Amino acid sequence: MNIYPILKPLLFQLDAEVAHDVTLASLKWAERLHLLGANTNQYHTTPRQVMGLTFPNAVGLAAGLDKNAAVIDGMATLGFGFIEVGTVTPRPQPGNPRPRLFRVKQAQGIINRFGFNNLGVDHLVENVKSAKYKGVLGINIGKNFDTPNERAVDDYLHCMRKVYAHASYITVNISSPNTKNLRALQEKEALSALLASLKFEQTKLTEQHSQYVPVALKIAPDLTPTQVAEIADLLMQHQIDGVIATNTTLSRDAVQGMAHAEETGGLSGAPVKHASTAVIQQLSQRLQGALPIIGVGGIMSGADAVEKIAAGASLVQLYSGLIYQGPKLVNDVCKSLG
Ligand code: FNR
Repeated sequence: MNIYPILKPLLFQLDAEVAHDVTLASLKWAERLHLLGANTNQYHTTPRQVMGLTFPNAVGLAAGLDKNAAVIDGMATLGFGFIEVGTVTPRPQPGNPRPRLFRVKQAQGIINRFGFNNLGVDHLVENVKSAKYKGVLGINIGKNFDTPNERAVDDYLHCMRKVYAHASYITVNISSPNTKNLRALQEKEALSALLASLKFEQTKLTEQHSQYVPVALKIAPDLTPTQVAEIADLLMQHQIDGVIATNTTLSRDAVQGMAHAEETGGLSGAPVKHASTAVIQQLSQRLQGALPIIGVGGIMSGADAVEKIAAGASLVQLYSGLIYQGPKLVNDVCKSLG
């Protein structure tokens, strides 16, 4: 039964972060009390083989909703083909002061400046270990806000070692706009050095664990076509397994004059859709299938997801669409993608 049309006006009365916390807590308890049933919403589609993994459907939960992997089993009941948790950092950190999450309702957008609030990688790993979920799990890793960019690689490697045995794939997030200078890691030299270290570590860990865990890079929508092409070339050169496009945008072009539009942070939802699809198209042209693209950004309907696949994505992820459309969106998108 779809009760979201009833819940949404109530949740939208609340401060956005309070609504977020209430929703996650309710989902967690509803699952624990067996009120949801296992995979009640699972829509049966042809499984997808991507990055050497089998995805029961092409629709995933994007990073940032379950930062500490505290609600994996609850999320699993919504019918996702895969779940990405994090971003997690080596040490716990509180993130930016509240308020830090805003709805741009007029445009079906969200602005957040959370700043990687999370309980640290050790806590996340314990949560993953205690989850019952056996499906595809991505773990998204980042750096602490006070780690300088020159030492960022140490943070990524630290997290990679910690999560390796517990992840189906690992996402390296260098595209959050809310950690100072993080996006500078997308620049050619810095990125080449980072990808080389990640690949080296992945090879070592593969031997150590007798298991190959794919690594994907998550990039921003605010890149020029030249930068996208450079990144695509580096991904191929360093044999990275996948790319997730995109994170939130700093642009406010699509929301000018609207309530909350001028809040600092990353904008997601409908207003980022076109920028994100454009990056997917540019990646796809350059990569020519060398590695898969996971498309994310502004998917508010099945048709939006079809656009991402047409642009070159193999899988899609959702976040803001869930806030505006509710969990029914997962099923709608699965149906549209077939
Ligand atoms: C995010 N996103 C995000 N991405 C990431 O890699 N790590 C993170 O911690 C977060 N945190 C986060 C918090 C909030 C409140 C939002 C709305 C988004 C970005 C998210 O995964 C996704 O890439 C973008 O939001 C674009 O997709 P949607 O939201 O338009 O479907």
